[in-house]
Amino acid sequence: MTVLRIDSSARLEGSNSRAITGYLVQQLGEPVVERDLVKEPLPPISPQDLVGVHGSLQDDRASLRHHLALSNELVAELKQADTLVLGVAMYNFSVPAYLKQWIDYVCRAGVSFRYTENGPEGLIGVQRAFIVTASGGTPIGGDWDFASCYLEHICRFLGVNEVFQIDVSGSKGAPEQVLAAARRQIDELLAQRELESA
Ligand SMILES: Cc1cc2nc3c(=O)[nH]c(=O)nc-3n(C[C@H](O)[C@H](O)[C@H](O)COP(=O)(O)O)c2cc1C
Repeated sequence: MTVLRIDSSARLEGSNSRAITGYLVQQLGEPVVERDLVKEPLPPISPQDLVGVHGSLQDDRASLRHHLALSNELVAELKQADTLVLGVAMYNFSVPAYLKQWIDYVCRAGVSFRYTENGPEGLIGVQRAFIVTASGGTPIGGDWDFASCYLEHICRFLGVNEVFQIDVSGSKGAPEQVLAAARRQIDELLAQRELESA
């Protein structure tokens, strides 16, 4: 069992989403591959190369070859994981730009999803994803949250079997309360899953 932990908060210190992705992977107790999209940002994709990467076009352009190679690496990392842990800071009601960039690298027609007569089919074969979304005043799952529901859609689109949401909202209040509430959600969720598999 392998966990792929992805962090995307711009804050390297004092980040609620990072604190909770850290707690979650500790509780899962499985080998972890970490990808920090802020410590090691992915290179931006030019408009022309974005189209090529999305359609997996083979072209002799050096820049496209470079982006396809990186995309292959990111998709392989994802396919090798059983569990995906996505740490998200809500920015302007949506996901950080660095996380959107990762999504643009891993959503590849014919590689991570394909279109069938019955609609799109995900190809990554990841068992479960935990979406850990930290926000200030915007409630997670509310009408103004375009981050957690979008990420759940992407996970299901790519073929993740089960998706769990961890609510780390309310960073304007007392941080310890926010973190304690998020840790409680994780403890309850994992205890319930243990019961189900017993
Ligand atoms: C650029 C920026 C945009 C933000 N936009 C929102 C927002 O739309 N809704 C919200 O509730 N909080 C917003 N916040 C607050 C963050 O979501 C909040 O501080 C959260 O805890 C960040 O995650 P982190 O603690 O992991 O860094 C924003 C913060 C920044 C820096």
